[in-house]
Amino acid sequence: MKNNSVTIGIIGFGTVGAGTAKILLRKRAELESKLGFPLVLKNIADLDTKRDRGIKLPSGVLINDAKAMLNDPSIDIVVELMGGIHPAKEFILQAIKNGKHVVTANKALLATEGHEIFKAARKSKVDIGFEASVAGSIPIIKVVRESLIGNNIQSIYGIINGTSNYILTKMTDEGIDFGTALKEAQALGYAEADPTFDIEGIDSAHKLTILSSLSFGIPLSFTKIYTEGIMKITPLDIQFASEFGYKIKLLAIAKQADSHIEVRVHPTMLPKDHLIANVNGVFNAIYIEGDAIGSQLYYGKGAGEMPTGSAVVSDIADIARGIKTGLSCRTHGITMTENPELKIKKIDDIRTCYYLRFSALDKPGVLSKISGILGSRDISIKSMIQKGRKVEKAVPVVMMTHEARENDMARALKEINRLSLVSEKTIYLRVEGGEN
Ligand code: NDP
Ligand code: HSE
Repeated sequence: MKNNSVTIGIIGFGTVGAGTAKILLRKRAELESKLGFPLVLKNIADLDTKRDRGIKLPSGVLINDAKAMLNDPSIDIVVELMGGIHPAKEFILQAIKNGKHVVTANKALLATEGHEIFKAARKSKVDIGFEASVAGSIPIIKVVRESLIGNNIQSIYGIINGTSNYILTKMTDEGIDFGTALKEAQALGYAEADPTFDIEGIDSAHKLTILSSLSFGIPLSFTKIYTEGIMKITPLDIQFASEFGYKIKLLAIAKQADSHIEVRVHPTMLPKDHLIANVNGVFNAIYIEGDAIGSQLYYGKGAGEMPTGSAVVSDIADIARGIKTGLSCRTHGITMTENPELKIKKIDDIRTCYYLRFSALDKPGVLSKISGILGSRDISIKSMIQKGRKVEKAVPVVMMTHEARENDMARALKEINRLSLVSEKTIYLRVEGGEN
């Protein structure tokens, strides 16, 4: 069997590990007929070997010691699906040292420690497959690294966190509260072990780190990505956004302009008829603009057991083909060298349109005061709604602005928030999708 087959060991029998095992075991014959040789799942290591994962494994497959697998010479590909930084990193480095190819879905690890891992893989001449690390089932890594190699990518942006998109969709379409929607996403296996990664935008930033490095040849730059999550989004802002003709989505954006690149993750208002505004639930979508292709949109499930398992199996199959043919080609980027010329733009320097919600006392002069401060910072108002008329309590005053510089907006809001006529900190959201 060993001479003809490619042998696999998985570390972590959780959501993604179980999905991967289901595909490898239940589709063993189809995979063998497609590849021309069998993929043998020799072991799955997990700390808990008792819990039901919805699949019955052949006897002896489930073990509790990942290290035994790393040192087993019969295993060709180690698949890391346990998550976290330590000891996942040490397991992967040990596997690489022992000459094993690695597949991982661990975007947190790659975004923060990827340099060391890819460097070790290049040295040992082994592959690292990481298709499942970004956008679940969408084969975006393959697209950027292989299919679009003939393009200079100008921008790549979209929804790349299923959990936050699920929450925002439930809040927008069904009026379900944030906490309940998050619990549902967790129960469905979409959320990270620490769900603050999802709702604070960190998971999207991990994925954008990987995508922007692949797309623009920049080093993995997680700490330089401006990151905001969806926790400040309220039903009131969802309702106002709708009245203005927009939906709120958590977007990850990377775009190049001259010698700079913008990389940012934040809740964003998009016109309701924008394709990405209509991506709902656990679905992800990524929009790419390249000089040869123009624009393309990729859409699919961004999280969950089987969609992610599908992406993991695609890496296993690619690497297994490479083992059989003696070709190895997936250690990291689209370029062999990083692009030192491209600098990451400071968030202060970006230009975008804004949604602003002021909590203003309904008194004469308040609007002229606010608009005067905005005007003095070169920020012009496109449209405005004022709701209610209560002299004692604050009323929401909502404005959409034309394009302005972030730093000007930050300074203007600081000044406005200090006014005695303004009772709460102003809520602001960036708006993308073109000036309507
Ligand atoms: P889970 O928490 O469901 O699964 C992780 C499994 O690994 C658990 O069973 C855990 O055991 C086990 N584990 C933890 N430490 C060890 C160890 N030292 N040795 C062996 N097993 C260990 O996570 P997911 O499957 O959701 O995620 C796995 C990875 O895939 C993460 O990196 C995640 O970011 C990524 N990912 C997840 C997606 C999803 O939809 N869920 C989609 C794309 C990527 P125990 O529970 O006992 O601690
Ligand atoms: N927690 C992640 C998400 C899993 O919700 O998108 C997929 O990477």
